[in-house]
Amino acid sequence: MYDASIIADQPAGRIIVIGGGASGLSCAWRLAGAGLKVILIEAGEPGGGALHASGGMLAAGFESAVELQPDHPLASAFVRFAEAASDLWPGWAERLQAESGRALGYERRGSIIPIFTAEESERAAAAMERARALGIETSRYDAAALHEAEPSLARALGAIAFPRDGQVDNRALGLALTEAARGRGVDIITGRTVTGLLRSTGRVTGVTLDLGDPLGAEAVILASGTGVIPGAPPVMAMEPVKGQMIAFAAARPVAPAHVLRGFSIYLAAKPGTRLVAGATSEPGVDDPGTDDEAIARLTAAARAAIPGLAATPVMERWAGLRPRTADSMPVIGEVEPGLLAAGGGYRNGVLLAPAIAEALAAYLGVGEDWPSAAPFSPHRPGLTAAER
Ligand code: GLY
Repeated sequence: MYDASIIADQPAGRIIVIGGGASGLSCAWRLAGAGLKVILIEAGEPGGGALHASGGMLAAGFESAVELQPDHPLASAFVRFAEAASDLWPGWAERLQAESGRALGYERRGSIIPIFTAEESERAAAAMERARALGIETSRYDAAALHEAEPSLARALGAIAFPRDGQVDNRALGLALTEAARGRGVDIITGRTVTGLLRSTGRVTGVTLDLGDPLGAEAVILASGTGVIPGAPPVMAMEPVKGQMIAFAAARPVAPAHVLRGFSIYLAAKPGTRLVAGATSEPGVDDPGTDDEAIARLTAAARAAIPGLAATPVMERWAGLRPRTADSMPVIGEVEPGLLAAGGGYRNGVLLAPAIAEALAAYLGVGEDWPSAAPFSPHRPGLTAAER
């Protein structure tokens, strides 16, 4: 909750960020570090939505070469932006750890895609071809090298790898961003919803909150994921794509040393003994619950990949909602005067967050130009409202 006296302050120079996920918190932290007065409004807990539910993947390589629609008109632009984001991560992680005092579990050891079947071998060859065309670094493991690198993995034919991919402990990240943002003077208002956008003389001038109190600002940043903000332009409507996940309590040598991105399951060992595995992809589903069938499928796929998990119980199950725009690409920049977009992270919200924050810092005149964000303008051709 916030101190009512801030409403009476002059809004000049004040930035309101709607949404306390990876993108919203990163924008708030970055902009406050540049001396701007930032208020962040989060309906639930900061870091508690899709960021908390995610797998913490920083996988520009895998996501571009395997998950991205190959003929997407923004494929090359996405690779450039995602790789720029990957390169920001080491510095961001270091500064965030220093300011929050929290270990983030950031690492960049690469992701390995084991190949178990002839069909997966064909998919891997196609991914390698796509990676080559997009200029993404790759490597290969034969069966013996793979066994040496990941002895707990089931017998595989070999693997392809994206050596520049990494991961972070997403839950620690949410806490660290919240604490570091507060440390830089960000006012974080929790448990309140934005009920509308204030507009005056052709620009957005602030927001109204659920108790009706207006809050003025020089600029409002929309980073609300799948949350609906009344009065926001239709291009900012995001389709939820639900992802269900599980976690085992497992340490090395059962837990893998690298992020394993199989074609039907991914596994990532977080600090301590938390081994997460995911994830379903359920477009249009906005109920955040889990179902036994999906959890059983994930559990079986994880145990097939790592037989040592056979007797390890699932200690946690959960789901999150990925926010997807109509063309599945992020949306970054000015939507209308006074209103900026910082969203649509979809499968890559954690990865892209620092680059989105840098791009918005540039829009607000407190950062270097970020030309690699320009293709993701809210005004790009073909971006319409996503179906919900
Ligand atoms: N980035 C992985 C996922 O969205 O499941």
